[in-house]
Amino acid sequence: MISKKINEALNAQINYEFWSGYLYLSMANHFEAIGRKGIANWFRIQFKEEFDHAQIFINYLNARDGRVILAPIAEVPVEWQSPLDAFANTLAHERKVTALINNLYALAEEEKDFATREMLNWFVAEQVQEEETAQDIIDNLELVGEDGTGIYQIDSELGKRTYTAPAPLNKNA
Ligand code: FEO
Repeated sequence: MISKKINEALNAQINYEFWSGYLYLSMANHFEAIGRKGIANWFRIQFKEEFDHAQIFINYLNARDGRVILAPIAEVPVEWQSPLDAFANTLAHERKVTALINNLYALAEEEKDFATREMLNWFVAEQVQEEETAQDIIDNLELVGEDGTGIYQIDSELGKRTYTAPAPLNKNA
């Protein structure tokens, strides 16, 4: 059984993970529309991962006899000025998610809900990766600036990203 307070906080996080997925899917659609297919691929996989994050919280709430309440997903932006603009948006967004995960962690400790705290450990580590990956791509984009060949190479590189289910959802991991 899970407390009402933690249950509500996890439902809010589920909604935010879905919103994150919408944000990245919108970015994927934007870059697909302007012919940056590699960047679009990267964001499509990012979208899938965010929906996976939501599913991890859903599975956890169900396992703890909680109640999943799906709220409406708010509107997301539809256009970005450049790849750098989109990845700067990504990094800022992931920093916000990190803060939310940290708040959940602190709440779990406050409520002495150690099972929730344990579940959140995976997300704490995941956020380190999320921020590092976005920062690495920003560094590369800043390095090439407006250079078309450089952008083309980064687009090709990001096109190689493949999807793998996150460990908590991967029964074979
Ligand atoms: Fe669900 Fe990108 O963190």
